[in-house]
This record gives sequence, C-alpha cells and structure tokens, in this order.
Amino acid sequence: MTDESTRAERGEGYAVNAPYYDLIIPREHWDSVADAVTGLLKGARRVAEIGAGTGHFTAALLRALGPDAEIRAIEPARVMRAALVTRLAADPAAERAVTVLPEDALTADPGTDLDAVLLLNLVMHFGPDERARLWRRWADALRPGGLLVVEAQHPQTAEPVAPVVLPGRALGRHRYETLSRADVLDAGRVRWTNTYRTFEGDRLIRAETATFDCHVVSDAVLARELTAAGLTAVPSAPPGLHVWRR
Ligand SMILES: C[S@@+](CC[C@H](N)C(=O)[O-])C[C@H]1O[C@@H](n2cnc3c(N)ncnc32)[C@H](O)[C@@H]1O
Repeated sequence: MTDESTRAERGEGYAVNAPYYDLIIPREHWDSVADAVTGLLKGARRVAEIGAGTGHFTAALLRALGPDAEIRAIEPARVMRAALVTRLAADPAAERAVTVLPEDALTADPGTDLDAVLLLNLVMHFGPDERARLWRRWADALRPGGLLVVEAQHPQTAEPVAPVVLPGRALGRHRYETLSRADVLDAGRVRWTNTYRTFEGDRLIRAETATFDCHVVSDAVLARELTAAGLTAVPSAPPGLHVWRR
C-alpha cells in the first residue's frame, strides 16, 4: 500500500484534505480529546506525538505542559507539516519546546526516552505487520512507567458507514462541511470518501474529494497487539482513548 505522505506528494489524500483540516474537524470532539489527553499527561515532560497533522493537539500539549516540555511532533506529509510548523512558529512557547520530525512513525527517532507517546487519528494508516513494528518501536522508546495513548477507531469492523454530513466552520463569507462515507474494501479495510464542500450562503461553490484506504483496528485487536508489545492497560481510561503503560 502507498503511504499517505507519498500520496500527498502526488496531490492525493492529505493534499486535498489539508486546506480544510482545521475548518472541518469536529471541534467539540477534538477539544474533549485534548482535555482528556492533557489531563492524562499532566507532569509529563518528554512526549512524542506521532502524526501530528496541523498541530491542534501539539498546541494543546504545549499549553498544558509548558515551555520546559520536550515535544517531538512527527509529521511526514509535507502539506500537513507546513500547517504544523506555521502554527508552532506563531507561538513563542514552541521555540524551545517542540521539535518537528519529518520522518514517519517507523523511522523517526525521538532521541530521548519518553514519558508518553500519543497517536491520535492515525492508527488506521498502518496494516497489521506495520502495527507490530509501530508498537514495538514506541513501547521501547518509553521509559518504564511511560504511557502510550491511542484513540479508539471507527468503524470497529469492516462495514460500510452510511453517508453523513459533518458540519464545519465558517471563514469569512464561506462555510465548510464534509460529506463522508466508508465502503468495504476487504475483510480488514474500508475506503473513506470525504467530499469537502464550500458554501457561499446556500450556494455550493466548491467540492473536492479525497479517499483514504484505512485499516480497521478494533479495540480487541489493539488490546492484543499492545499486550504483545509488552504494555499493560491502564484501567478507567477516558472514553474513546486507550491508555497503556510500559
Ligand atoms: C487524520 S490526521 C490526524 C492528525 C492529528 N493527529 C489530529 O488528530 O488532528 C493523520 C496524520 O497522520 C499522518 N501520517 C500518516 N501516515 C503516517 C506515518 N506512517 N507516520 C507518521 N504520521 C503519519 C498524516 O500525514 C496525517 O497528518
């Protein structure tokens, strides 16, 4: 399978998604995930965020952990990294605290042992063999007692997801929304088709579509794989998050 940073270089996937990303993310959900994650990581100092995207959670981490934190923000797709770096460059607290690594999750080297590793909205891009390497690599990068935090995946089985319109935000005269659906590719993957729609008043003025072929990773599969990587589940994790300890 072609990786998403290569697809983005070809103008596919995240290259289509990136200009809309911060306008279409479900803001309340994202803010509640940010609150939960920053609550979990209170007191952490060295954190790697894998697949940081445009940096919504990087900024939240920075606010919560302060300028003495050492955050490694790993983002291989150039178009997403441009947004990430632009966001961080506007924040003086990031200057010393955040290092942006352009490698991918299977090659990036945090250069230090870590108190926590964060993977949000990312795991669907890894097949079973890649996940085995992913978990091993980042479990090993944690200090004993360090936390690995992963967002629960949707859907939990390879099944179609009916089209739904996800309202986004407005910017000036334009309002943004996403029409999203998933179709089954095979027993372990779905293809998400997302159409990013721009409206001026009631008039649709632009629609651009990106597809993402995503691996289905159920909670049970995650638990089995993280156990095999030597991690232990933290009981009563916040809803929607899996929290594992080295
Ligand atoms: C859906 S976005 C999520 C961004 C951010 N974590 C968030 O929740 O807003 C997934 C991100 O993972 C990145 N990504 C995809 N494959 C990756 C890989 N192999 N290693 C690291 N990041 C990857 C993509 O470039 C994209 O920015």
